[in-house]
Amino acid sequence: MRTLLASGIFISLRLLHRDTADNNPDTPFEFTLENMKRVEAIINNYPKGHKQAATIPVLDLAQRQHGWLPISAMNKVAEILEIPPMRVYEVATFYTMFNRQPMGKYHVQVCTTTPCMLCDSDSILQAIQNKLGIKVGETTPDKLFTLAEVECLGACVNAPMVQINDNYYEDLKPSDIEHILDELKAGRVPPPGPRSGRFSCEPEGGLTSLTEPPPGPGFGVRADL
Ligand code: FES
Repeated sequence: MRTLLASGIFISLRLLHRDTADNNPDTPFEFTLENMKRVEAIINNYPKGHKQAATIPVLDLAQRQHGWLPISAMNKVAEILEIPPMRVYEVATFYTMFNRQPMGKYHVQVCTTTPCMLCDSDSILQAIQNKLGIKVGETTPDKLFTLAEVECLGACVNAPMVQINDNYYEDLKPSDIEHILDELKAGRVPPPGPRSGRFSCEPEGGLTSLTEPPPGPGFGVRADL
């Protein structure tokens, strides 16, 4: 009961908005001209009268432009889509991909759900904390990295893995993630994907099926047909 209550309070706190100096309805936010064209293109993907359907992609664009989503950006999205601001707040607070607080340039999301945990994601999380000197939920003083612990990111077969901005880094050892962070600090973006040498999510021990070229057209068809 106490756990339920505590998690309820935690969820409520996560959803709360309190005006701050850099996050209030007057925080400057306007889409750039280039992004306004993108917004129009996104809205045109949906039938007339259904602008609300564009909420997620337009919020995503606002976040990509600003780095995170102040309440003024959400209000702007509501204004453009001609919907009540609450409809936008509901979406932005539900999906954890939307960051409603200032973020570091690189959002480091460590998956610690069961398959990753069994492949020692704890050591990856520890390596990141040691390397950056921050804990989960914190941002480095140089505003380069924000660290988050997240649930399954859908790359379990390449566990343990970490998402950094749009890139997945997979099959990680602590030394791999340390190297990746060093590269990012140096202004280089290391290539995403598995660090084990395998291609994508192919079996670690090599292919066990589909190892020969497929038979051509007509294979198995009766000769008299
Ligand atoms: S459990 Fe980590 S990606 Fe699925």
